[in-house]
Amino acid sequence: MSDRVLVTAALPYANGPLHLGHLAGAYLPSDLYVRYMRLAGKEILFICGSDEHGVPITIAADKEGVTPQDIVDRYHKINKQAFEDFGISFDYYGRTSSETHKDISQKFFKKLHDDGVFVKKTEKQYFDTEAQMFLADRYIKGTCPKCGYEEAYGDQCEKCGTALSPSELGNPKSMLSGATPELRETEHWYIPLGNYQEWLGEWIDGHGDWKANVVGQCKSWLEGGLSERAVTRDLKWGVPVPLEGADGKVLYVWFDAPIGYISATVEWAAQTGSPEEWKLFWQQEDTELIHFIGKDNIVFHCIMFPAMLKAHGDYVLPKNVPANEFLNLEGKKLSTSRGWAVWLHEYLEEFEPDLLRYALTTILPENKDSDFSWKDFQGRVNNDLADVFGNFVFRTFSFIDRFFEGKLPELKNASKEDLALLAEIEKHGKLISEAYEKFRFKDAAHHTINLARLGNKYFTDMEPWHSRKTDIGKCGNTLHVSAQIVAALSVYFEPIVPDACSKLKTALNLSVNGLILWNEVSSEMLKAGQPLTAGEIPFKKIEDSQIQKQIDRLEARAAEHAGPAEPDLEPEKDAIEFDDFVKLDLRVARILEAEKVKKSKKLLKIKVDVGYEERIILSGISQFHEPEDIIGKNVVVVANLKPRKMMGMESKGMILMAEDPADGLLFVSSDARPGSVVN
Ligand code: MF3
Ligand code: ZN
Repeated sequence: MSDRVLVTAALPYANGPLHLGHLAGAYLPSDLYVRYMRLAGKEILFICGSDEHGVPITIAADKEGVTPQDIVDRYHKINKQAFEDFGISFDYYGRTSSETHKDISQKFFKKLHDDGVFVKKTEKQYFDTEAQMFLADRYIKGTCPKCGYEEAYGDQCEKCGTALSPSELGNPKSMLSGATPELRETEHWYIPLGNYQEWLGEWIDGHGDWKANVVGQCKSWLEGGLSERAVTRDLKWGVPVPLEGADGKVLYVWFDAPIGYISATVEWAAQTGSPEEWKLFWQQEDTELIHFIGKDNIVFHCIMFPAMLKAHGDYVLPKNVPANEFLNLEGKKLSTSRGWAVWLHEYLEEFEPDLLRYALTTILPENKDSDFSWKDFQGRVNNDLADVFGNFVFRTFSFIDRFFEGKLPELKNASKEDLALLAEIEKHGKLISEAYEKFRFKDAAHHTINLARLGNKYFTDMEPWHSRKTDIGKCGNTLHVSAQIVAALSVYFEPIVPDACSKLKTALNLSVNGLILWNEVSSEMLKAGQPLTAGEIPFKKIEDSQIQKQIDRLEARAAEHAGPAEPDLEPEKDAIEFDDFVKLDLRVARILEAEKVKKSKKLLKIKVDVGYEERIILSGISQFHEPEDIIGKNVVVVANLKPRKMMGMESKGMILMAEDPADGLLFVSSDARPGSVVN
């Protein structure tokens, strides 16, 4: 493993505040890793910043009637602060609207352009003649060809999730002016990812240690075959395309944003006074580049950006991309538009950052989506941090304070139990560091709290409250050993709960020489006789009322955002001729008998009287109706439907059912006599 590591966390869009999902996806995991790596003595650089381009930002600006710059200025500041408050320890937090970034991303583009990497193509795109501009996909709304939803965006239908291109929309409308846009020709530059397909396949295969969820996504992209991807857009907001005759065109946000990692590193180096030092991290082959991201960013970090770096030729490629899955909230998908989110600044009004860092670490969506609930949060804080870690620390300090004048007693004639516990320090050091190195942060948290648990149990088993009266030497040994465990924990727990650990180190008088490295942790970190300053009780318990307040707040906001009930109805079908309608022979029929069809989950075999005959109709309603409940009902049937075979039986006709979005399949009933014609 190289000693120089560059860690990046996905640049969050500066168009809104950050929530729990952001933290659990990329920022907490990356910070855990970085903090561990620093303790492991690596030369590590941790880079992030605001992603300030892209259409959602211009849309947010339009909505508020301000400039995109206003929007990104606001959220850059808020988000930078939130990260700081949570102890996310970036070495540099840049932004993609900076001059350096413009310069570096333009040079990047120019080099690929001059090297003939791109292909230039003319395509037809929607143009808003009123607003006098080409429309980004997100600026066009229309009818989804898949589900008929009329408010589908040009790039995706939010109702059925289908990825779309604007030309597929029915009845397209510009969101800027409401006008119907017209197709006009425009030129763009494309990166032909197909040219990198083979190389990418081999490169990804060469990384056997990548997470299965990441490799899986990459493979499916590669299997689908890579095509050309536009790297420019017709837009006013962004990095201008640095070519003659490219007025009004900017770099596609997913082209410039990852270059933001590089430009932020350049700014970091300039700021530290060694402007060339960025090259160490980006151009020195043995640098380990690690991208922390959420799963929605995998294709960009594992395919697009590596292809760009490869095409450029002189940059390091990511060594690993430990992407996380998504975090749900109280069993439901996080949604900022539906108000279903916990904002970081709101959390901080009530609780310490450490508490969330710990609770989230134990449930990170490392391999599959996971769920945050306030109750679970309370449980983890109270049961683990307060009852185990906090209690152990408190008992140790207060006994030493009360019975040994606040000085560490010596260890003399250590018992089997004393030695056994001291040996756990090294063992756990290994277990925890292995977990960090493999990006298994949940495991790291588990092993860390486990050491505290062992310490706490040992304390209880040794009963120093007895031995202090009967055998003060034994009592001293117990406290000596306990304090050594506390000291080890003050380092081992640092990546997860940095604030608590820094207080702990002060209380142990350990922080005098700055950072204590992982391999400096031992069973002899504290010297007999050294003063220990008991501080406040770490980790107070969270009351039920505090949790209820959060749940209430969440639900209140979800209700606020609910708006008018969503019409979850099927879109209307295409118009038909009257002649088509009269072909249907609809009749009232009475249900005479009904029974379940064996081996079928859905079908009922129903005998009906249609006035002029009795017949059998098979109907897929068994999940909604019990046979005995429907006998005697008058319903409407399509009498002249050609007989069909199902499960080996003939069905003659069809019973009409109304498909209620909430209640399922309901009969269309009638008071008319069987055989009456319905039209
Ligand atoms: N802004 C993107 C998002 O929030 C992430 C950009 S990552 C970068 O999904 F690599 F492009 F910077
Ligand atoms: Zn749809």
